[in-house]
Amino acid sequence: MMMKGAKVQKTNIHPSNRVHQTAYIEEGAVIGHNNHFGPFTYISACVVIGDNCRFEGHCSIGSPPEHKGLHFAPGNHGVLIGNGVVVKEFVTINRGTTHTTTIQDGVWMLRGSHAGHDSLVMHDATISCNVVIGGHSVVMDKANIGLGAVIHQRRCIGSYAMIGMGAVVTKSMPPFMTAYGSPCKPKHLNFNGMLRGGAVTESRLSLFKLYEALAESQMGSYKRVMEVMPPEGKSIFELWTKLIRGTSDLSSVQPEEKDLPKPGDLRQ
Ligand SMILES: CC(C)(COP(=O)(O)OP(=O)(O)OC[C@H]1O[C@@H](n2cnc3c(N)ncnc32)[C@H](O)[C@@H]1OP(=O)(O)O)[C@@H](O)C(=O)NCCC(=O)NCCS
Repeated sequence: MMMKGAKVQKTNIHPSNRVHQTAYIEEGAVIGHNNHFGPFTYISACVVIGDNCRFEGHCSIGSPPEHKGLHFAPGNHGVLIGNGVVVKEFVTINRGTTHTTTIQDGVWMLRGSHAGHDSLVMHDATISCNVVIGGHSVVMDKANIGLGAVIHQRRCIGSYAMIGMGAVVTKSMPPFMTAYGSPCKPKHLNFNGMLRGGAVTESRLSLFKLYEALAESQMGSYKRVMEVMPPEGKSIFELWTKLIRGTSDLSSVQPEEKDLPKPGDLRQ
C-alpha cells in the first residue's frame, strides 16, 4: 500500500509495501514485498531490498561512502538488504566502494547505528543503538554488538560473539566470545548467546569449554587442543585462530566480492 503523495519515483514497487508519504525511494532501487518505510526514510537508487523488512523513520540507506577519496567516485557498489531486516530510526548504511555493503536476513540495526561502506552484517546479528561499524568490517552470524560500541574499519566480529557496550574494537574478535573494554578484549565464552542462538546444546558445552581453556592459555596449547578436538569443532577453531592472528592479515576472513550474496540470490 502506497500512501498518497509518497515520493516514490519507481513505478514497479509492489503494492504490498507500505511507504509513508514523506519517504523517498529513488528510481532504480529494487524493492521486494511487504516492506515498511517510515517517515522520512531515504532509499537511494543503488539499494536492493528483500521482503518483510521494516525501515523506521529517518533512516538513510545507500548514501555515498564516508571516504574522502571515493565519495564522489563513479561506479560505487550499492547496498544489499536481505529479508526480515529491522532498521530503526536514524540508522545509516553507506553504499560500498569495492564490495556491496550487505545486511543479511534477520539482522536488527537499532536506533542511530551505522554500517560503513563495504561492511557485511551477517544473518541475525544484532547491532545496538549508536554502534558504529567501520568500513569493510564484517559482523558474523548472530553476533551481538552492545550499545555504542565502535568497530575499527576492516575488522571482523566472529559468530555468536557478544561485544560489550561502549567497546572500542581495535582488533578482530573471535567467535563465541564475550569481549569488552577499550581496547576491546575477549573475556570469556558467550555461553548464553551460544545456547540462545542454537550454536551449542547443553550436552556439547564441554567442547566449547576447550576454547575457553585455550583462550586462557594464550594459544600456547593450540596443537594439543587440535588433537583432542572433535572434527566438528576444528573448523570453528581454525576460524578462531585466523581471527586472532588476522590482525595483520585480515584477508583470511574478509569475504571476497564473489562470496557475497548477489542481488539475484534474494529475488526468488
Ligand atoms: C559485556 C556484558 C555482556 C557483561 O559481560 P560479563 O562478563 O557478564 O560482565 P559482568 O557483568 O560479570 O561484569 C564483570 C566486570 O566487567 C565490567 N563490565 C561489564 N560490562 C562492561 C563493559 N561493557 N565495558 C567495561 N566493563 C564492563 C563490570 O563492571 C565488572 O567489573 P568489576 O569486576 O570491576 O565489577 C555487558 O556488560 C554488556 O556490555 N552488555 C551489553 C548491553 C547492551 O548493549 N544492551 C543492549 C540493550 S538494547
